[in-house]
This record gives sequence, C-alpha cells and structure tokens, in this order.
Amino acid sequence: MADRILVIGGAGYIGSHVQKQLIEEGYDVIVYDNLSSGDEINILEKAKFIKGDILDEKSLNEAMSQNIKAVVHLAAKKAVGESMISPDIYAKNNLTGSINILNAMVNNNVKYIVFSSSAAVYGMPEYIPMDEKHPINPINYYGYTKRAIEENMEWFNKLGKLNYTALRYFNAVGYAFDGTIRGKERNPQNLMPIIMEAATGKRDGFSIFGNDYETRDGTCIRDYIHVTDLARAHSLALKKMFEENKSYKLNLGTGIGTSVKEIVDATEKVIGKKLKYTYAPRRSGDPAVLTAKADEAQKILGWKPVYTDIEEIISSVWNLEI
Ligand code: UFG
Repeated sequence: MADRILVIGGAGYIGSHVQKQLIEEGYDVIVYDNLSSGDEINILEKAKFIKGDILDEKSLNEAMSQNIKAVVHLAAKKAVGESMISPDIYAKNNLTGSINILNAMVNNNVKYIVFSSSAAVYGMPEYIPMDEKHPINPINYYGYTKRAIEENMEWFNKLGKLNYTALRYFNAVGYAFDGTIRGKERNPQNLMPIIMEAATGKRDGFSIFGNDYETRDGTCIRDYIHVTDLARAHSLALKKMFEENKSYKLNLGTGIGTSVKEIVDATEKVIGKKLKYTYAPRRSGDPAVLTAKADEAQKILGWKPVYTDIEEIISSVWNLEI
C-alpha cells in the first residue's frame, strides 16, 4: 500500500503544488486545510480532503490517527508586513498551530515532517549568496515564527520523537505548467501576482519599491524559484528521511538573482504590452539583494531547480491568465 502523507495547508499556493507532486509519485495524499487562504479548486480528485484548522487539536489528532507516514506542513500566515502589525495572529496561527501539529504527531506516532520554512529566518544578509550556515537573525515576526518552529522541531528530534526537514524557500513563483492548479491567492502581497493583476487589468498599476539600491539597476534583487521545483524538493526530502532517518535544514533557491525591474521588463516582453507602474520609496525591511546558495539541497537530496529562465517562469503564470 502507498505511504499516506498528510499535506497540511495543501489547498494553498505552494501546498497544492506539493499535493500534486506527491500524487504523481503515487503517494496516498490527504489534504488538511481550513480554506482561509487556500482554495478548494486546488485540491485534486485523487486527494482526500479534510477541512480542518491547525488550531483545532481534536480535528488534527483525528486526521493524524489515519495511519499517516509523514506530514508536510505548509499552513501559515505569510504576510511579512502584517506580522509586524498583528504579531498575535502570527503567534496563534504559526506558533500555536505548528506546536499543535508536532504534538499531534507525537500522540499518533507520526515520525516525519517536512516544514515550509523561509529565507526570512536569516534576516539581513551578512553575505550573498546565503548558505545554511548564515546567522539566523530574523528581522520580522513572520521570520521569527519560522525560526521558532525550526527550533521546536530540533528539540522534538533531539528527544527522539521525529525527524524533520526544514525547507527554507526563497521567492516562490509560477504555477504548474499543465494548468491543474488554478486557485489564485486572494489579496496577493508578492511582486509576481501583483504584476499579473496589473497585466490583466484587475488593478490599475503597481509600485516598484525603491530604485536607489546599490544594485545593477537600483531595484531589489531576489532569487525566484519555480513552485514546481519547490514541490519536487518536498518529495525528495520525504524519501531521504525515510531512507536515512535524519533531519535537515535546506535552502531552496536557484542562486540566480533577478531585479524587480528585470521582472517587470521580462513580463512586458512575455505579455507583449507595457505595464503601468511608478517608483515608490523603499519598503521597510527589504534587503537590497537576497540570493541562495542551495548546494546542500543538491548534495543531500539530489535536488536541482529545472526552471531557471525567468521568461519561461513568467510565461507559466501568464498562460493561466489568458
Ligand atoms: N515589490 C515591489 N512592488 C510590489 C511588491 C514587491 O517593488 O508591489 C518588490 C519588493 O520590494 C521586493 C521584491 O519585489 O524587492 C519581492 O517582494 P515580495 O513581496 O514578492 O517578496 P519578498 O522578497 O519581500 O518576500 C518573500 C516572501 C517572504 C519570504 C521572503 C524570503 O513573501 O515570505 O521572500 O526571501 F520570507
């Protein structure tokens, strides 16, 4: 019988792609999601769906009691700005919710977890590209919640309760090329979906936050990693943990830096029209450059991003819009 994986947050943007990947690899997938930001249309026919909240311990324990081999945990609030204004929301959802998951795992003897962490755990880069040895010094509460869960998983591991892989995503972008995942995020906060809303006329235009950074064109540089590549790393991490019974913390990025202006220019090229935007002041807390050194993921998981061409990535998003 196929191993059963509980994908918590599996109706969300990255979670739904992870669900798809695991189904394609023959796993028996249960999606657990409260649909607060996820979308039911993202749940594939082959997945079983439990509508539940990570704050509901009873429901979590019930889900976890169904012969689950491993958990992939991607249920979290993720707006950096909001986390600085309403830390209580992040404490509840990201901290308490994740602790509930770890406890439910221990109660039900579930031994493996892949956790969606973030480059936000590092804070301001002390060197670029950042490897996993870079100091962990989050500068926003969102990043702190990711760090705190990593630390809790470390403890649970030390105490012999579970093995974990923390995957530290850089900037996730794109959609599955076959168009199966169609649920768009509501009120997106990130650059790419905002640009797409401008491209489709859903919003008037957008702002580029800062053009006075010390970068090649003055705008911020990020490491954009295709969500399909991210999803694949989750299944590789599960496989590795099942084989080795060890725990890992791994960056997931391409190592390639692309500026905001380059994204905008590439989008205009892909969609064949000009976008409406203005230059606005810097957004607080934005480092000029953030790129990953992801050699560890390659070494340990054999993972290598496939989609490194930014125009191809943008096309994968645009093709779903038109
Ligand atoms: N940006 C704009 N205009 C916008 C939105 C964003 O110019 O309307 C710029 C930002 O200033 C930044 C870049 O586009 O330079 C990317 O911004 P995003 O908000 O898309 O992404 P961030 O790099 O700020 O953050 C993302 C995730 C976080 C994660 C972080 C880690 O949203 O969850 O990557 O690298 F922590």
